Amino acid sequence: MKIAVIGANGQLGHDVARAFTSYGDEVIPLTHSDIELSDMDSVSKCLQPLHADVVVNTAAMHHVENCEREPQKAFAVNGLGVWNLAKVMRDMRGVLVHVSTDYVFDGAKSSPYSETDSPNPLNAYGNTKLAGEYFVRSTVEKHFVLRVSAIYGKNPCRAKGGLNFIELMLRIAKERGEVKVVDSEFVTPTSTAAIARQMIALSRCDDYGLYHCTAEGSCSWHEFAREIFDFTSTKVHLKVAAPNDFPAKVPRPKYSVLENCGLKARGLNTFRPWQQSVREYLSSPSN
Ligand SMILES: NC(=O)c1ccc[n+]([C@@H]2O[C@H](COP(=O)([O-])OP(=O)(O)OC[C@H]3O[C@@H](n4cnc5c(N)ncnc54)[C@H](OP(=O)(O)O)[C@@H]3O)[C@@H](O)[C@H]2O)c1
Repeated sequence: MKIAVIGANGQLGHDVARAFTSYGDEVIPLTHSDIELSDMDSVSKCLQPLHADVVVNTAAMHHVENCEREPQKAFAVNGLGVWNLAKVMRDMRGVLVHVSTDYVFDGAKSSPYSETDSPNPLNAYGNTKLAGEYFVRSTVEKHFVLRVSAIYGKNPCRAKGGLNFIELMLRIAKERGEVKVVDSEFVTPTSTAAIARQMIALSRCDDYGLYHCTAEGSCSWHEFAREIFDFTSTKVHLKVAAPNDFPAKVPRPKYSVLENCGLKARGLNTFRPWQQSVREYLSSPSN
């Protein structure tokens, strides 16, 4: 198959491009210099000549504080930009795999969110990403909208400028010997490699729709850090951060654990327990 990957030099896009290539597909990696989502002309001129079977969109404006400061810009990329993409894909009749987020939920639940739970974003980022989801779902017949959570990969996240949570924890432990992490926010850490694996499985079927796409299980950020230090035998004082140690500038869901109900119902779920993916990440060489 011919697969175009938007955001191919990003944290997720890099592993998606690599996974499809290893699978034997022809991959066209597209970076921000090849395509500007907020510009309809750019989207159609870039994508139309490619005749890709599948377009995977990993690109977004997703730095939460920046989105809150510049909501118009965030909406231009995550909302209207995705609408541009959706309209081009509708005309091309190709398959669109679009990446969304757990931040469409408010975190008021204390059990995992399924695809049938109502979204209620707390911030500009979540609202713009939810708009993008709706544009895809209402415009492109052959779509997969995939909600992911707390992602980490070997390629640095471009928007967050550097270290993912695992690398950050290891760096702080090495430099200071003490780490404080909150134990009151719950997520499912999910590796980009695992998401890429899931995308390959989905690209081979026609069960289009909205899917939660996270590793199995959940943890607090504190438990995530504990797993990293235990597996790497890192000697560190891991403490629980007090609520005002890291005051949030922008509201975020305290609980955004997703259940892969849709994938499981169709026998498509390829995700493993989150601890297994963390160990796989820590055992594999750097890029
Ligand atoms: N990181 C997380 O923990 C997390 C959690 C949940 C969901 N997500 C979602 O996962 C996806 C991938 O995240 P990531 O960590 O891989 O991001 P990333 O490393 O920041 O990569 C994003 C890519 O999008 C490109 N891009 C940004 N604005 C663009 C635009 N207007 N037009 C075209 N390309 C543009 C960036 O290019 P430049 O850098 O050159 O601008 C970069 O290549 C996003 O959809 C995000 O919303 C992430």
